[in-house]
Amino acid sequence: MSKNPSQQDHETMPICDFFKKFKRLRLFEPYLGAGFFFVTLFVICGFFYLDCWAVAKGYRVPAKSDRFWWLKLDGGGGGGSIENKKRVEFLSEQGNGCDLFDGAWVWDENYPLYQSKDCNFLDEGFRCTENGRPDLFYTKWRWQPRNCNLPRFDARLMLEKLRNKRLVFVGDSIGRNQWESLLCMLSSAVPNKDSIYEVNGSPITKHKGFLVFKLKDYNCTVEYYRAPFLVLQSRPPAGSPEKIKTTLKLDQMDWNSWKWRDADVLVFNTGHWWNYEKTLRGGCYFQDGAELKMKMKVEHAYRRSIETVVHWIHNEVNTNKTQVFFRTFAPVHFRGGDWKTGGSCHSEKLPELGSSLVPPETWDQLKLVTDVLSNHMNTTWKFGILNVTYMTAQRKDGHSSVYYLGPIESPAPLHRQDCSHWCLPGVPDSWNELLYALFLKREATTHGLNSSTHRAQI
Ligand SMILES: *[C@@H]1O[C@H](CO)[C@@H](O)[C@H](O)[C@H]1NC(C)=O
Ligand SMILES: *[C@@H]1O[C@H](CO)[C@@H](O)[C@H](O)[C@H]1NC(C)=O
Ligand SMILES: *[C@@H]1O[C@H](CO)[C@@H](O)[C@H](O)[C@H]1NC(C)=O
Ligand SMILES: *[C@@H]1O[C@H](CO)[C@@H](O)[C@H](O)[C@H]1NC(C)=O
Ligand SMILES: *[C@@H]1O[C@H](CO)[C@@H](O)[C@H](O)[C@H]1NC(C)=O
Repeated sequence: MSKNPSQQDHETMPICDFFKKFKRLRLFEPYLGAGFFFVTLFVICGFFYLDCWAVAKGYRVPAKSDRFWWLKLDGGGGGGSIENKKRVEFLSEQGNGCDLFDGAWVWDENYPLYQSKDCNFLDEGFRCTENGRPDLFYTKWRWQPRNCNLPRFDARLMLEKLRNKRLVFVGDSIGRNQWESLLCMLSSAVPNKDSIYEVNGSPITKHKGFLVFKLKDYNCTVEYYRAPFLVLQSRPPAGSPEKIKTTLKLDQMDWNSWKWRDADVLVFNTGHWWNYEKTLRGGCYFQDGAELKMKMKVEHAYRRSIETVVHWIHNEVNTNKTQVFFRTFAPVHFRGGDWKTGGSCHSEKLPELGSSLVPPETWDQLKLVTDVLSNHMNTTWKFGILNVTYMTAQRKDGHSSVYYLGPIESPAPLHRQDCSHWCLPGVPDSWNELLYALFLKREATTHGLNSSTHRAQI
């Protein structure tokens, strides 16, 4: 199990070293002219320098600033940085119980894992580099858990493990973002790209209800089903008031759920549509059983839907066969407005380390979901949480911003930015590396080893 190569020995660099090396980086060249950027950078650099200096001199960084915990890992010694700490491998037995989602972004020259121009399975909207985004920093960050090392992503190994299997993403367009990322990551190990195809011949476009890509050499499929609410959205009951255009049946799963039920790996996400704008405002009301819930708040409906998903997993899914994951909300990073009032993120070139300025609803959402999920996780290991909200909150630099319209039309006007979706390669690759690690761990505990003491805690 522990023969998987670890990332430990790859060139990594926490943020302070990164800024020391900064002058040598060629990546800056394409946008040297951006004055505002440099001003920002100097300010940021100043802060980092101060922090590095404070640590080097043995000053205590204020307790509430957890930003540079990796510099303080070695206790009193000071200056111990993330690459010096010996960590256990997540896939080894010692790695059991390691919280993969507690960690930091570290600079890693070995990233990204693929280039968008080499991947046929990407919507134009995610191809930021090809759409003119000049900087590449955002492709170079790797997630490093605090207490263990992730296995290096090995597409061939994952494909072997997926042989004759189905891996299914269900959710909103951010789930689609993650699905396309995984297609690129996996297909990088397949020399004959023609052996990968959509089973119905559908092209990758934004408007399909579902897409099923087959990797022929491995007889496996990697599928995406659009179901932004996960529960069923359909016609209102007969005789409903006219303002009710549709209802969300909070007690029923999406009508495609029978298609995903028997998948071998199932990755859910939802969240971005659970707001007033995308429900009540457009005449989409809530319904529980036969009853219309005209007064129900969106948060309440959201909670109810997550409960429905959990019950469905318990009652309908054979969790001996199917590994179920629930990916938590991926925060947006609009500044000075939202998507329709001119909010922006196009000048963000670096992660925000530690504290984060994402909208406060992000944390309410996360709390709601983890409350419901964790209530149901105490009995048996039924599903895993891809708890990406916290790590993703730091990645204000990873969004498509104005580079989502395709190579000819991009950049988009500054007042019409996409600070919800993610450039690829980019942040969703990291979610998939975590998915990979958890998937391998689970495979090893159910097939490789025979003892119940190896149950991983995720
Ligand atoms: C998710 O991660 C955050 C930050 O590491 C942590 O505070 C929270 O408890 C985690 N939630 C779950 C359900 O693991
Ligand atoms: C291919 O995989 C499917 C499951 O996705 C399985 O039912 C089928 O038997 C496999 N075909 C071969 C030739 O192994
Ligand atoms: C799952 O596995 C357990 C233990 O091996 C077994 O008792 C249970 O019946 C299985 N459930 C299904 C649905 O196959
Ligand atoms: C699991 O949680 C539920 C709800 O919180 C509770 O009723 C149940 O007793 C718990 N089971 C165990 C084994 O702790
Ligand atoms: C169970 O695992 C132990 C070592 O972990 C191994 O020696 C033994 O052969 C295994 N038994 C079975 C039935 O696989």
